[in-house]
Amino acid sequence: MLQKLIAGNWKMNGSLAANQALLADLLAGLAAQAPACQVAVAVPAPYLAQVQQLTAGSAIALGAQDVSQHASGAFTGEISAQMLNDFGVRYALVGHSERRQYHGETDAIVAAKAQAALAAGITPIVCLGETLAQREAGETEAVVQRQLAAVLDVVGQDVTRLVVAYEPVWAIGTGKTATPEQAQAVHAALRAQLVQANGAAAQVPLLYGGSMNAANAAQLLAQPDIDGGLIGGAALKAADFLHIIAAAA
Ligand code: G3P
Repeated sequence: MLQKLIAGNWKMNGSLAANQALLADLLAGLAAQAPACQVAVAVPAPYLAQVQQLTAGSAIALGAQDVSQHASGAFTGEISAQMLNDFGVRYALVGHSERRQYHGETDAIVAAKAQAALAAGITPIVCLGETLAQREAGETEAVVQRQLAAVLDVVGQDVTRLVVAYEPVWAIGTGKTATPEQAQAVHAALRAQLVQANGAAAQVPLLYGGSMNAANAAQLLAQPDIDGGLIGGAALKAADFLHIIAAAA
């Protein structure tokens, strides 16, 4: 049985003081009830050192919200996988819909980012998902399978080292969560695509993201092909995030 992964994506939120308070509450909650799942937080880059220090030796793994596809050089503002390694980063989100939308990240760029993370020993969390218009046009599986195929074409045998997050764009930050059945259907299609690429990829964790919260987490996580969650808003509230972690037992 695959151990589930609950990862928080703090997005562009936090401060040194707020991070300290949130992590103190999270760590206290996890000390009171040891998690049966893996836990991670993907934090804004300026806070990597602080969160590394605050979570050292705890059940919380450190994540980044992006990684450059380049190793080094004249790429102003970008952050390389090697730089993330300097802060003990274990996961890196790649291809989050907000970066695809606002920063023009194509399937090819996302694949290159995933490969750069893997090359540095960092686990990429490959984010993919359809827009509402694409769902309403019946294009959901074609879209997510195209997005995943771009990564599979590049990483080859390293596919077994991926984490994949299905995040329907229309559910992100909207409170309109996919139903467990809708999410399971897409996860099953992604699982089939992974297994077709490499039988050993059956174990690749498939996370759901998009308004997962304390009220709906248990139903979503009970689905056979949902191996965890990628949590935005609810990750910024310790009680909610801890409730989701408890539901991932
Ligand atoms: O990466 C997770 C995020 O996109 C989901 O956000 O606020 O809908 O949980 P939220």
